[in-house]
Amino acid sequence: MKKYILLLLFLTAIVVGPFAYQRWSEAKRLRHIRETKQYAAQIRATPLKDFLQQLDQTSPDQTVLVLFTGNTQAHLEPCGCFIGQSGGLPRRATAISGIRDKGFSPLLVDLGGVLPVELKQMKSDVLEPIAFKTDDEIHALDQLRVQTTFTAIEMMGYDVLVSSQPGANLGENSVEQVLTNYRFQLLAAPSKASPPAQRPYLIKTVGNKRVALIELSLLETDQTTSIPKKLDSLLSEVQAHADIVIISSHLQPEVNKSLAKKYPNISAIMSRDTGETERVGNVLLTYCHPHGKTLGALTITDAAGGNSAAVEHIALTEEVGDDPNVRQLLNDFYGQVASDPQLQVASHRLFSSEALEQDSNNSYIGSQACQECHRKEFDQWSHSSHATAFNTLQIIGREYYSKCVSCHVTGFGYSSGYEIGNRDRAHLAEVGCETCHGPGKQHTYTPLATNIRGKVETSMCMECHQPEHSPGFQEIVAQLMPEVDHSRTDPSLKQILEQRGRGPVKPQVELFVMSYCSYGVDAEKELLPFFSKYIDEIDFKLRFIVSKKDPSADETDAEPEFTSLHGETELIENLRQMVVAELYPDQFFDYLLCRADHLKEAWTLCAQKVGLDVTKIASAVDTPQARRRFLQEVERTKELEIRGSPTLVIDGRVIGGQLWRGRVRETCQ
Ligand code: HEC
Ligand code: HEC
Ligand code: HEC
Ligand code: HEC
Repeated sequence: MKKYILLLLFLTAIVVGPFAYQRWSEAKRLRHIRETKQYAAQIRATPLKDFLQQLDQTSPDQTVLVLFTGNTQAHLEPCGCFIGQSGGLPRRATAISGIRDKGFSPLLVDLGGVLPVELKQMKSDVLEPIAFKTDDEIHALDQLRVQTTFTAIEMMGYDVLVSSQPGANLGENSVEQVLTNYRFQLLAAPSKASPPAQRPYLIKTVGNKRVALIELSLLETDQTTSIPKKLDSLLSEVQAHADIVIISSHLQPEVNKSLAKKYPNISAIMSRDTGETERVGNVLLTYCHPHGKTLGALTITDAAGGNSAAVEHIALTEEVGDDPNVRQLLNDFYGQVASDPQLQVASHRLFSSEALEQDSNNSYIGSQACQECHRKEFDQWSHSSHATAFNTLQIIGREYYSKCVSCHVTGFGYSSGYEIGNRDRAHLAEVGCETCHGPGKQHTYTPLATNIRGKVETSMCMECHQPEHSPGFQEIVAQLMPEVDHSRTDPSLKQILEQRGRGPVKPQVELFVMSYCSYGVDAEKELLPFFSKYIDEIDFKLRFIVSKKDPSADETDAEPEFTSLHGETELIENLRQMVVAELYPDQFFDYLLCRADHLKEAWTLCAQKVGLDVTKIASAVDTPQARRRFLQEVERTKELEIRGSPTLVIDGRVIGGQLWRGRVRETCQ
């Protein structure tokens, strides 16, 4: 008997083992991906609320506070590509007013590097229509970004901006000329376009101290020591009028260190570059996080034997929240970009070192063209988030912004590639087959292994999955490859949701039904219990397939009329379900599942069973407002070309029936 049991256990282990192992290793893979991403996304900085609490320990009179940014390169805000991003002008403004509310009036400095760095790099691979007119002219969109940055820092009350690229043009004018319209002071090197009479320092009273900030790049540097020549005389001039001296220096770290040794009475040397805070004697050497990711805070307090300086970087993560005025400024910026085609052209393109992309006889044709011959690969790809990458931009309203579009579509910047606002290129609004395999028109007509890229190196991935947009990616690319290399032909619905759920934007799940279609009802019974497990991680919407009686009816029509396949009863139940979803989101699934079993009975039965207010629902259902809302359903069904109930859509793409339709065999059309 014992033998049989052992044998049975052994056989069970053989049968179940591989599955158990698979599940275990898949769970391990996902955990590793999640943890690596989380770790890589972290920013080493102090939470704002902790910093504000520290301020409570000191008094504004006794502390000199200098808030600073540098090397922002006109970044307005984080892209939103991953969870936990820090930075952005609207949050910076919130942090600064939080600090002012504690009674501090800090010296507020931008240490330079405000212009986009692409300025110089772009020239080699710049595209025809936007060639630079003069040597240093900036791309129109970048000009607008820079000006928006200026306006924002003015709104925040910056005292001073160090100009980094003297003579660079913003449209007709040099940066220096543009800046005469702003209140903050400019510390700038003399340039051909502006008078050389700039002063290299500024003095401001902060707390009960007079603080001098000196910008070194304005001084001529000694070739042999790289130390600015006139610093000695300048320092003695400044020290006569100030209690504390701070230097802004873009020089090499070694030079800064030797300066610190030579001038031990300076409180701090601040660089706009990236680096590790360091102390040389009593002098603090500080650095910046680029792109405005954090707000630097230098505090100087009296201490025995001189001043004591300390620096912190304040995290500008989501919980900081947006300042409404600066938010509005950015919204205006995006509005302007959306309405002006000149601001929508590509400024650079990906894959500029790949041969297929540079061949002018080839062109992009769209993933649909590959489907016919590569069905298996197409199906796998269409369930990946690459297929819906443009939908992501539409959800957050950035589909006009070239800084985002470049990585979220196919072939942006190439003559046959995606173009913003060109309807004929809508088929390239995705990270399609041809991003990884190269433009495929020639291959589609004459399929050869030589006119398409068969081998996809991870360096291709890295063009988009850069650390700034996809931190940690390089470390986990081997674990992520199976999600894109077509080896997983049939991802489960769970796998699809799990992949989409790793990003900051919740997967948009839409189930299209007709409420009296039995197949649709079966789909609800099958899917709702599954979705309810993910309800906090997805954005679920039940949608209804109806049509307008009068095709010309629109939002302005007071009482539009509709038809539905199963008649007026269905139309009313659709409306009712819509109302329940709005009024009782928590009980919505319970109501639907109850209705699924009791469709022939009165709706009030289920409403009462799950505890809904029957009169409240009834009075909300037959209103013109509710009917007008149906117009949105009609729009959405038309947009996605939905015909049958049930149809499942995730992030704007129909999910093939074989992936989820267990008991559902057919559709109502
Ligand atoms: C043209 C730019 C581009 C290229 C090239 C590219 N990706 Fe992506 N990838 C994206 C974008 C954009 C997203 C985010 C899509 C969304 O959810 O909107 C993404 C998402 C992903 C995701 C899901 C998000 C996650 O959890 O990491 C994986 C996996 C992925 N890519 C792997 C790859 C691999 C592997 C390669 C190379 C073989 C590659 N990608 C090449 C742009 C690109
Ligand atoms: C250099 C390429 C690149 C640029 C430029 C870029 N993205 Fe992305 N984006 C990606 C990649 C890669 C991912 C996937 C990241 C990951 O999960 O590792 C992504 C993911 C996203 C996601 C998350 C999608 C989800 O499913 O949660 C959003 C939102 C997004 N990007 C918005 C933007 C916006 C807005 C901009 C412009 C401000 C932008 N992206 C610019 C490459 C880029
Ligand atoms: C994110 C990048 C990426 C995208 C997008 C992509 N592929 Fe691939 N594809 C790969 C990788 C990686 C391989 C494996 C090649 C290798 O071993 O280097 C591959 C392999 C292939 C192969 C060779 C046979 C096979 O299945 O392994 C074909 C055919 C193919 N892809 C077609 C397509 C089609 C069609 C699409 C669009 C529907 C597409 N690919 C989209 C990355 C991609
Ligand atoms: C008319 C049918 C057809 C169409 C359309 C087609 N292919 Fe192919 N594809 C083939 C055939 C056949 C091969 C095998 C060629 C060979 O090995 O000589 C192939 C091979 C490939 C390979 C593998 C090359 C290698 O090195 O092994 C990739 C990748 C690929 N196709 C991608 C695409 C993409 C992307 C598209 C759409 C732009 C596309 N194909 C459209 C028929 C087609």
